[in-house]
Amino acid sequence: PIPMLIDTDPGVDDALALLLAFNDPRHRVEALTVAAGNVGLEHTVANALKLVELCAADVPVHPGCAAPLLHPARDAAYVHGRDGFGDVGYVPAARAAEPEHAALAILRLSHLHAGRLLLVALGPLTNLALALKLDPTLPRRVARLVVMGGAVTAHGNITPAAEFNIAFDPEAARIVFEGFPRFDLADWEAVLAHGFPHAEAETWLRADSPRARFYEAISRQTRLWSADRRGEFWHSADALAMAWALEPAGAVETVERPVAVELAGTHTRGATVVDWQRQGDAPDNARILSRYDQARFHGLIRTALAAGAAV
Ligand code: BDR
Ligand code: CA
Repeated sequence: PIPMLIDTDPGVDDALALLLAFNDPRHRVEALTVAAGNVGLEHTVANALKLVELCAADVPVHPGCAAPLLHPARDAAYVHGRDGFGDVGYVPAARAAEPEHAALAILRLSHLHAGRLLLVALGPLTNLALALKLDPTLPRRVARLVVMGGAVTAHGNITPAAEFNIAFDPEAARIVFEGFPRFDLADWEAVLAHGFPHAEAETWLRADSPRARFYEAISRQTRLWSADRRGEFWHSADALAMAWALEPAGAVETVERPVAVELAGTHTRGATVVDWQRQGDAPDNARILSRYDQARFHGLIRTALAAGAAV
């Protein structure tokens, strides 16, 4: 199987992405590296450990950065719950986190799996930026980097122009966007184009499996929030990025362009600026996802939720 490392801030949609990853026989999750993002690091780490336990996955969890590189954090507890998992009061996992810092684990695993490693970033890019600063040769050893982040035509979800993962730590995002010569970007606008009807998702969540039961519970609050705010369709940003990571052949349309991160701006800090007409001389660094096979995406989610079901 392809070795995969997931940097994440669980997070309700991170959890769905992790269920997809743990259910994929073609990939082996070597580690989860965890950052602060949707909620504080103590919660994102506890949530990652809980998911690993739920899926009986033997995967180490490495805590990383507790705050953005430079500026104070602004979390998304209003979407994901104060504990990031819908405040359902789950029993914490018995397993403990690793002592090794996330950034060091990323570097170590990049050596161990040099040339083969699939790196999937589902949260703010703080850990990855730190790893890059420690060792700028990291991209040479990574076979593919998939990032969930950005809003390529400035349709933001946290400010008018910026998407949450980038806006949480724009300096880190800039380090990563400049440090990796090539990466795959699943942005918020792709996410908006790949929603699924709540009514359909509810049928998937009724699968008779511990994973579906757990996910139904932790996602309840955010599903209500999303139905209230965005109507009929539910969106899972991190699950879409993960589907593309696991099944690249599901991408129906992608476009390659130079993408930069705005650090200043009265209205635009944290925005991803795409040079659509290639007016500057920056090389294309990002392959942006425009369209993914919706049936394949839904199939991956349905199967992952039902995994481990009673037969
Ligand atoms: C991203 O921000 C977080 O709230 C989600 O987990 C996802 O990674 C979407 O903008
Ligand atoms: Ca996330």
